[in-house]
Amino acid sequence: MDLSSKLITWYTENKRDLPWRNTTDAYTIWLSEIILQQTRVEQGLPYFNRFLERYSTVTDFAAAPEDDILKLWQGLGYYSRGRNMLKTAQLVQEHYNGVFPVKYEQLLRLKGIGEYTAAAVSSFAANEAKAVVDGNVYRVLARYYGIDEPINLPKGKKLFQQLADEVLDQERPGLHNQAMMEFGAMLCKPRNPACGICPVRLSCVAFKLNSTTALPVKVNK
Ligand code: ADE
Repeated sequence: MDLSSKLITWYTENKRDLPWRNTTDAYTIWLSEIILQQTRVEQGLPYFNRFLERYSTVTDFAAAPEDDILKLWQGLGYYSRGRNMLKTAQLVQEHYNGVFPVKYEQLLRLKGIGEYTAAAVSSFAANEAKAVVDGNVYRVLARYYGIDEPINLPKGKKLFQQLADEVLDQERPGLHNQAMMEFGAMLCKPRNPACGICPVRLSCVAFKLNSTTALPVKVNK
């Protein structure tokens, strides 16, 4: 079995029950992904719930005064995220009639949405075959394939994006992306990865070479 199938099996049996995983609503998924960008799940969860309670649709969000959004955002930091969200919600209200877009190329044009978020929303909400590449994905791929190309240089970024696209399950891209991220967050952790219970350790290069702690490589710029 390939890496993706094994991780999807692992994910199905071990995933945390997180609220944004029980929906295909693009607005809800977008909200969760923006909040989680520079924030840990435990910290972001109560914010996600409060935002969704207060603004259950993108139409509600778009109508909110900026001060209300920023007040609800208090404690999360990076306030430009909150401001960009309001601009994006307003644009979705005006140009998409309040229907949050799900196509990767459309999402990329919205403020505050880069390749990562566009891939996450389009794959989770509409099963579009786009691979997410976040810190978890870099780590899992670097270790499993034993790649020491620095992840924070253009050459490495390109290489990992290509690899992520290659290993993507074309039939189940949403599930695949969730599985990669969850596996990186819960098991293939930055420190003390749980190799003892890892379902792919026998084909993992870093496990064989005892080099998990050295990967992925980041250079000081
Ligand atoms: N961090 C960013 N996106 C996430 C997601 N969909 N599930 C869990 N953690 C995440």
